[in-house]
Formats: sequence, C-alpha cells, structure tokens
Amino acid sequence: MESLIGLVNRIQRACTSLGDYGGGNNALSSLWEALPTVAVVGGQSSGKSSVLESIVGRDFLPRGSGIVTRRPLVLQLHKTENGTEDYAEFLHISNRRFTNFSLVRKEIEDETDRITGKNKQISPVPIHLSIFSPNVVNLTLIDLPGLTKVAVDGQPETIVEDIESMVRSYVSKPNCLILAISPANQDIATSDAIKLAKEVDPTGDRTFGVLTKLDLMDKGTNALDVIEGRSYRLQHPWVGIVNRSQADINKNIDMMVARRQEREYFETSPDYSHLASKMGSEYLAKLLSKLLESVIRARIPNILSLITRSIEELERELDHLGRPVAIDAGAQLYTILGMCRAFEKIFKEHLDGGRPGGAR
Ligand code: GDP
Ligand code: NA
Ligand code: MG
Repeated sequence: MESLIGLVNRIQRACTSLGDYGGGNNALSSLWEALPTVAVVGGQSSGKSSVLESIVGRDFLPRGSGIVTRRPLVLQLHKTENGTEDYAEFLHISNRRFTNFSLVRKEIEDETDRITGKNKQISPVPIHLSIFSPNVVNLTLIDLPGLTKVAVDGQPETIVEDIESMVRSYVSKPNCLILAISPANQDIATSDAIKLAKEVDPTGDRTFGVLTKLDLMDKGTNALDVIEGRSYRLQHPWVGIVNRSQADINKNIDMMVARRQEREYFETSPDYSHLASKMGSEYLAKLLSKLLESVIRARIPNILSLITRSIEELERELDHLGRPVAIDAGAQLYTILGMCRAFEKIFKEHLDGGRPGGAR
C-alpha cells in the first residue's frame, strides 16, 4: 500500500494543480488547509537550505546572499529501491525527469522568476518538486523564504512583513510541524525561528528545534544548554546539526561525504558524543518522517470527512454544469473527482486497519 505521506503528497499536488489550492472549491481548499505538513523556518543564512540538502543528500537548492527563496518550495521525498538512480520531477513540467541536479537548481530559479519577475518579489504560489532516491525517507517539507529584518537589493520595504505573513500563514495551521532552524553561533534569544514558533505554538508541541553551525561556536563554548532544553524548552528534544561550511561548498564536498563527516563530528565530540545517536541530519530526517506519518494517521478521520465533502461538492458542481462536460474545467473536475474517490477508498482502508487483507 502507498505510504500515507505519499497519499497526502498526491492530494497536495491535485489541489495545487487546480490553482488557489482548491480551484475555488471550498471543500478542496479546506482539505488543502487540513493536510499535515512540515514547514522549515528560520532567519536568513541560518542554514535552512543546507539542512534540506543534507536531508535529501543532494545539492539542488539555489544559493546566494539576499532573499534566495522567494516562493514556497513543497519538497516531496520518495524513497526508492536501493541501487536506483536519483531523479527529480516538477509538478509544473509534466513528463520531464531531471537526473542532473544542477538543472533542478536552475529550474527552481527560473520558475521563481517566472511568477515573481526579476524584481525579487515574493509569491505565495508554491513550487512542487518531487525527489526520488534510495537515500531519502518518505517525507514532505516546505521550504519558506528566510525571515529577514531589512529589505536589500532594491526590494520594497514591505518585503520584510510580506515574508513574515507568508511564513505565518503556514506555521499557524494546527497541522503544521515547524522545523525551527537557529544557528548555534548566535544567541538563541535572538532566533527569528524560535520567536515565531513561540507565538504560533506556545506549548512547543509541534515545534522541532534545530541547531545548526555547532562547529562554528567560539572555542571553549558549547550548545548543551540549548540542546538539553535548559535555554528554551520544547516538547521534542532539540537536534544539533553540522552542515557543510561555505569552504566545503566551494570545494564541492559531496553530500554523502558531508553526512559521514557530520556523524563523525558528533561521535567524536567531547561535548556531544553522549547524544550522538540523536543528532545530525539523517536522524532528523527519520524522526520527521515517523512523526509526519503518525500525525497523518491521527488525522485520517478528519481528512476523510473533508474528502467526502469535496466529493459531494464536486458532484454538485458537475450536476450544475450538466453532464457530460467537454470543456476543460469540467474535465479537470472529473479528474479530481475520480482522484478524491480513490483517496476516499484508500483512506478508509487505512482507517480499517492498514493493508487490505492483512495487518500492518
Ligand atoms: P539559509 O539562508 O538559511 O538557507 O542558509 P544556507 O543553508 O544557505 O547557509 C548559509 C551559509 O552558512 C552557507 O555558507 C553555509 O555553508 C553555511 N552553513 C550552514 N550551516 C552550517 C553549519 O552547520 N556549519 C558551517 N560551518 N557552516 C554552515
Ligand atoms: Na539565504
Ligand atoms: Mg536558503
């Protein structure tokens, strides 16, 4: 049976392809709203892109100074059989498999500009990217523009607030797990990610504190107060990360080598070796995959009732248009209706205890 995360991915893609995350169909928009997600938030240069790339094990995100991420990137990871080649697909380009990941980076840049223009504006319309690889776990993550304090490069002053309200619109959803990225070489009290997370999730139930740049702390200091929850307590333990440095990136250090170096860093660190098994990007990816799956499982009854509502609404809409409808809109509605019926069936099976004809 398809994984629950994979199923939710498909619903997300279906809603997005209708535009406005539901094509003006109220039930579908509420369904989109209710889908559990993981959003990555943090200040500029806190290490968001690096964490995502480590989780994926590939180099594929645009980089640079200034506001690089200007549209949400819905990144869907699909684990494939060992030995198969990594590839990527975009929702907005059907039938094209990218095996060269520098072209993936180029396409994200081009597609960002296509909607926002070259003037560095931001847009809430997400880009959907799927990556298929034996080195990933099933997981969906949404990369959001970095929180910033000042507009640069001729960007309008409003961009600071625009970014914050876009990020807020994602992390305010009760079903959104928040991956709050803070750099260890700055005081945690000044972390943009923690400030926002604290506001929208005061109990810390759905916030995951990620501390990057542990290797860049002043000699003689460590981050144990944060990592062991004494500085700022969350319900879930903090995860420390060591990403590639800029020098590593310039030297083109392979991501798999970087993962190994990160593991060695924790295993041999006098400060963190006692926590080594719960540190690093690979651990983080596994943790998130497990959690996302369990959040989805807990929400199945809710998702199912929204799907049923969508089906009813779509049927009414199609009746109103009169069948058969040859025009594009009608054809698209039929496709979505078919998909919703299929989703309904599969979710019911999950609700009935997992795989058809067998226990999970
Ligand atoms: P973003 O703006 O939040 O997406 O941040 P990036 O991932 O682009 O990282 C910004 C800079 O910090 C890059 O030069 C990275 O190489 C560097 N960086 C990120 N994480 C770490 C880390 O854990 N250790 C070191 N040494 N450098 C890091
Ligand atoms: Na950045
Ligand atoms: Mg970035």
